[in-house]
Amino acid sequence: LITPLSKRDALFSDCSLVAVSAQGLIEWVEHSVEPEQLQDLLAKHGRSTEDQDTQFVELKWGEWIMPGFVDTHTHAPQFQNNGAGAQYELLDWLTHVTFPEEEKYADVEYAKKMYRRVVRASLDLGTTMCCWYGTLHLEGTKVLADIAHELGQRAYIGKCNMNRESAPTYQEASAEDSLRDTLSFISHVEALSPSPSGALVQPILTPRFAISCTSDLLQGLGEIAKQHPHLPIQTHISENSSEIAYTKGLFPHCSTYAEVYDYYGLLRENTILAHGVHLEQSELDLIKSRGAGLSHCPTSNFNLRSGSAHVGEWLDNGNKCGLGTDCSGGWTASMITAMQLASVCSKVVSYYTKGDDASITGRFSKTQFAKYQLPIPTLLWLATMGGAEVCCLQDTIGSLEPGKQFDAIRVSVLPETDNMHIWYDESDSLESMLERFMANADERNVMEVWVKGRKVGGKLLK
Ligand code: GUN
Ligand code: FE
Repeated sequence: LITPLSKRDALFSDCSLVAVSAQGLIEWVEHSVEPEQLQDLLAKHGRSTEDQDTQFVELKWGEWIMPGFVDTHTHAPQFQNNGAGAQYELLDWLTHVTFPEEEKYADVEYAKKMYRRVVRASLDLGTTMCCWYGTLHLEGTKVLADIAHELGQRAYIGKCNMNRESAPTYQEASAEDSLRDTLSFISHVEALSPSPSGALVQPILTPRFAISCTSDLLQGLGEIAKQHPHLPIQTHISENSSEIAYTKGLFPHCSTYAEVYDYYGLLRENTILAHGVHLEQSELDLIKSRGAGLSHCPTSNFNLRSGSAHVGEWLDNGNKCGLGTDCSGGWTASMITAMQLASVCSKVVSYYTKGDDASITGRFSKTQFAKYQLPIPTLLWLATMGGAEVCCLQDTIGSLEPGKQFDAIRVSVLPETDNMHIWYDESDSLESMLERFMANADERNVMEVWVKGRKVGGKLLK
């Protein structure tokens, strides 16, 4: 069992005992457990292996439990397009590939059919918390929230606000319409659970990006945000050079992209900004001073030729950062692929910017990131705890520590069944197995997925 990963530059690996209550809370954790200590440690907590009401999950060598993945940015209505349309860059891709598919979600029956598959796929890949964009449609996006709630995924769900710069058939009629639908969407999602503050599924304000929102719409959203300080906000920022130039032209009163969101009161602690590939230092500083988080989406940034984000510099600068899959800018909902490509991206950046031989020694531990490829613990941290921080859920999820909720996955690299795509040796260290897992794993290796202690996905659910 691998446990905390509560630090981004260190890997804690040992055999641990984790106790989870029927409510899905981690009650206690014992580290460095030797098999012969098991009964004594259980007795210390008033337990024994004979307890009728206790279920024991024992792991073999080659299996471990780790925190579930936190996908800080993706689009549910684009899964049908995964792997299509990458001949375009962002703005043409939105017009010719993305908006035509999203438009289909005016049909609630289509939304019901597709969103069930989408949430199922995301859970089975080990994503226990997901920041979802729906479409601009109120009814279709309610369906997405209903399905995440039913299937048991922890999620932020956003109805897109977009009232300009797309085809008239895929655009909201006015700022008033957009704001009204946003408020009814929030009420719908909050009514799904008896206590909105502890709910697994929560609404998130989703101005698609500055280009798609008029000034009065952004202003209205800023007012909603002010009235609901706990409501998270998600949007896109500085993904592509043409997008940045276009944004600056639309908002001449702001000197940078980040200033646009700040001007309308949309940059705050619970804001999640996706991409940020071309952010300037002053923007990173502004984002940090507001406490907002960044979602690094390398699969998409490579696929749409957006660029290579300098994530090591963000970390050194103290910006909050997690990973996102950004389907279908990215071609897969796999957070494992996101980690792999975050690694590749950091290697590309360090090669072109600093080119330092020391980078190859940084596989397992580094405290300064900008010069180096991101180490394995940092990649795992970004996919779990980093994402939890970006979602302001760092006290609830992201690591396996007492008092947190048990959002976790059991992974296996055992050569049984069909896991033979990962080659390892009995003598391999956990670090080495983790490294191979990072490079080779997919949903075949995700055996069980729990959200708040409830088993909701993985290969063994089927
Ligand atoms: N910017 C505005 N909308 C989108 C989208 O759907 N995907 C990506 N990658 N960028 C966007
Ligand atoms: Fe996106």
